[in-house]
Amino acid sequence: MKTIVIIGATSALAQSIAKIHAAEQHRLLLVGRNEPRLDLIAQDLSVRGAKQCEVYCLDLADTDKHGPLWEHVYQKFPKPDIVYIAHGVLPDQQVCQGSYQQTLASLQVNALSVISLLTELANRMETDKHGQIVVISSVAGDRGRKSNYVYGTAKATISTFLQGLRNRLYDSNVSVTTVKPGFIDTPMTADFEKGALWATPDQVASDIVKGVGKNRNVIYTPPIWFFIMAIIKAIPELLFKRLSL
Ligand SMILES: NC(=O)c1ccc[n+]([C@@H]2O[C@H](COP(=O)([O-])OP(=O)(O)OC[C@H]3O[C@@H](n4cnc5c(N)ncnc54)[C@H](OP(=O)(O)O)[C@@H]3O)[C@@H](O)[C@H]2O)c1
Repeated sequence: MKTIVIIGATSALAQSIAKIHAAEQHRLLLVGRNEPRLDLIAQDLSVRGAKQCEVYCLDLADTDKHGPLWEHVYQKFPKPDIVYIAHGVLPDQQVCQGSYQQTLASLQVNALSVISLLTELANRMETDKHGQIVVISSVAGDRGRKSNYVYGTAKATISTFLQGLRNRLYDSNVSVTTVKPGFIDTPMTADFEKGALWATPDQVASDIVKGVGKNRNVIYTPPIWFFIMAIIKAIPELLFKRLSL
């Protein structure tokens, strides 16, 4: 039986991940800002088989509250086996272009809050020489595009941070997995037109849990996104800047 912490546990993707781990009868600690929803999700996961399911409520953008969060987590689950970080927002690119404050607010949630969480978590896992860190980044961080470069900047920031962390923690037996999903049909993308490349949260969660089981460094999900992004990254900047993507 594993102890698993899921941060951003009300996200559609996190819920799909949690369902898989509940069926495996692990112990879960769900972290998010919406207590009634967390309670409902916890009840559902208990019915699905979770050995224990606790919740902890905070606004993750408030980094002053991250210290007490880790105190609580490590008191409940002294050596967590897996910690997922899944919270995020999709900012309006046009609004951000007109407002540094809006850009900063989205970077605060998508990048800085994640870095704050990882700073203390990494130190604790490094001391314990135990644990797996799994963070949901995005293919959007692989190359800046005019349609979503503020969101992409945050995801690129955490992908690079995780790369360095993985290198640092390798000698401490702590694995770090960067997840790069493509399009997923979740509340975050409710207003988008869906096409052939769209995946369900359950499909993506299945790829993630399998990849985490193999200690993968980077997971593109669905896997076709590895090839799509390889092509997109290979386009010379001289041409790329002229494209409408
Ligand atoms: N959907 C996609 O196409 C896609 C693609 C690539 C990567 N991703 C990434 O996948 C992850 C999960 O997103 P999703 O698609 O499952 O969307 P989602 O269902 O909208 O989940 C986003 C979650 O982030 C939480 N959140 C946002 N700001 C927060 C804050 N300040 N404090 C606490 N919680 C906060 C939301 O909490 P509330 O429920 O309280 O609002 C919500 O649970 C995100 O990191 C996203 O960037 C998504």
